[in-house]
Amino acid sequence: MLLRSPCLLALLVALLPAVTAQSLTTALQQQNLTAFNALVTAYPDLFAGLTNTTILAPSDAAFSAAQQIVGANASNVDIPSLLVYHQLVGAASLKSLSMAQAGNGEVVQTNLKNASEVNMGGVSNVVSVPSAVTLKQQGLGASTGQTSQQVTITGGLGAGANITTGDIAWDGGLLQVLDKVLDLPDVCSKTLAANKVTTFVQYLSRATNLTPNGTNPVAYYDTLTSLTCFVPDDTAFAAQAPIYNAMNTQEISENIGLHVFAGVFYGPETPSGSILVPVWGNGTRGFVFQSNSSGMFIGNSQLIRSDWALSNGVIHVLNKPLNESDSIAITNSTVVFAGVGGPSNGSAPTTSAGPSTSQTAGSSGALGRQTIFASGMAVLAAVAGSILALI
Ligand SMILES: *[C@@H]1O[C@H](CO)[C@@H](O)[C@H](O)[C@H]1NC(C)=O
Ligand SMILES: *[C@@H]1O[C@H](CO)[C@@H](O)[C@H](O)[C@H]1NC(C)=O
Ligand SMILES: *[C@@H]1O[C@H](CO)[C@@H](O)[C@H](O)[C@H]1NC(C)=O
Ligand SMILES: *[C@@H]1O[C@H](CO)[C@@H](O)[C@H](O)[C@H]1NC(C)=O
Ligand SMILES: *[C@@H]1O[C@H](CO)[C@@H](O)[C@H](O)[C@H]1NC(C)=O
Ligand SMILES: *[C@@H]1O[C@H](CO)[C@@H](O)[C@H](O)[C@H]1NC(C)=O
Ligand SMILES: *[C@@H]1O[C@H](CO)[C@@H](O)[C@H](O)[C@H]1NC(C)=O
Ligand SMILES: *[C@@H]1O[C@H](CO)[C@@H](O)[C@H](O)[C@H]1NC(C)=O
Ligand SMILES: *[C@@H]1O[C@H](CO)[C@@H](O)[C@H](O)[C@H]1NC(C)=O
Ligand SMILES: *[C@@H]1O[C@H](CO)[C@@H](O)[C@H](O)[C@H]1NC(C)=O
Ligand SMILES: *[C@@H]1O[C@H](CO)[C@@H](O)[C@H](O)[C@H]1NC(C)=O
Repeated sequence: MLLRSPCLLALLVALLPAVTAQSLTTALQQQNLTAFNALVTAYPDLFAGLTNTTILAPSDAAFSAAQQIVGANASNVDIPSLLVYHQLVGAASLKSLSMAQAGNGEVVQTNLKNASEVNMGGVSNVVSVPSAVTLKQQGLGASTGQTSQQVTITGGLGAGANITTGDIAWDGGLLQVLDKVLDLPDVCSKTLAANKVTTFVQYLSRATNLTPNGTNPVAYYDTLTSLTCFVPDDTAFAAQAPIYNAMNTQEISENIGLHVFAGVFYGPETPSGSILVPVWGNGTRGFVFQSNSSGMFIGNSQLIRSDWALSNGVIHVLNKPLNESDSIAITNSTVVFAGVGGPSNGSAPTTSAGPSTSQTAGSSGALGRQTIFASGMAVLAAVAGSILALI
């Protein structure tokens, strides 16, 4: 008798349609996702009426690790934003994500678009699925082309999480279980610092011709609405240190200004062969972006990390600085790729002495995320505390 019930149960389960819907709470309970379920219960409004939504649910172990990392700073964690950032628009199945990973990756819109958190002109923040090529360059060696492959998701601060259990159907879409809590997207300087990429920001701070009235370029670009930075890594700059360290303000502004673009250019959404126009050069020079089976490229540089979501745009990391000699001249008839919120013609509205006057420096307080959600954090702390107590 004891043996027969599970068999019967298995048979019944097999006979049910594959996409049997269940409430999110039921799905979370069945997966033992206690911490995430407690947050869903604490913030019902954020989960009410969702349709065709993929929920990324960090495991209890992921929450307990996050709690240990934030520690005394837990009261600064913006729980509502964190929860909507873990909601993807559409049905992101393991199969579609792993196919994207085998290609040049994918970016997926989230429900995080609150203007007080996201400085992208009304567009949502994204998570990205890095390509197998860039994962390999990080030594992560993801296998490709198999539905059983490890799927990795990159959130804010360039930090990733793996899907450990996936494609669980619930009333409003799919549920994917993560082994880490995603970080919220933040500004460029913080994101680079978190990844120990330091040289670019040092040079940017000297590029005062890139900003109006000599304002601090680092703060200026951290608060600008919708930008893309192609950031050479420290090794790439070290190889050119004699050249860069000898530059005056005008030269450093020109060379760093070639790496900063108005508009958000996600790698997988930029067609191969597109021409992108940097803020330096008032729309007269552009770089060709290419993607193929070897990866993604701009000018003569390769994207060795791609699509790190920022609160105001995106960062790609390059293996070599961009060089003006690799750019092409833009004419009135050149078709320029605008990305999200970028200039849509050959006249990027910039001057040789500074970026566009039509760009607006963000005033939305995207610098830092200091909103305190004490009640939310109390829930998380209580949940994490009880998990820690169990261990
Ligand atoms: C949830 O926990 C129960 C009890 O420990 C266990 O039997 C079950 O296999 C777990 N379910 C999952 C999906 O991990
Ligand atoms: C906590 O916040 C302080 C001030 O913002 C920061 O210096 C410190 O690194 C943070 N600690 C952790 C563990 O994040
Ligand atoms: C659900 O999202 C997918 C994209 O992930 C889209 O193709 C599909 O049309 C959406 N379905 C509905 C009913 O909105
Ligand atoms: C947007 O964020 C602010 C501050 O973080 C919060 O007060 C407000 O309720 C949020 N609005 C929505 C629609 O989530
Ligand atoms: C994800 O999986 C890869 C390959 O198994 C591993 O190298 C990496 O550390 C994992 N990342 C996280 C955040 O768990
Ligand atoms: C820069 O100068 C202009 C004109 O003098 C002024 O309108 C603008 O507010 C200044 N901007 C900053 C950031 O100081
Ligand atoms: C991909 O494009 C880059 C840059 O143009 C080029 O160097 C590389 O050879 C191309 N690879 C393939 C497989 O076409
Ligand atoms: C750009 O390339 C030219 C020609 O190869 C070289 O002379 C110059 O030093 C390079 N500039 C930088 C900033 O690396
Ligand atoms: C390009 O456009 C500008 C402004 O519309 C115009 O003054 C200029 O003559 C045009 N140049 C060419 C080569 O068509
Ligand atoms: C290109 O678009 C910008 C606004 O995005 C506009 O100011 C400029 O006049 C346009 N230039 C041409 C040549 O159409
Ligand atoms: C664009 O920059 C060039 C020099 O780089 C300068 O000669 C030209 O006047 C500038 N044009 C505009 C419209 O600012």
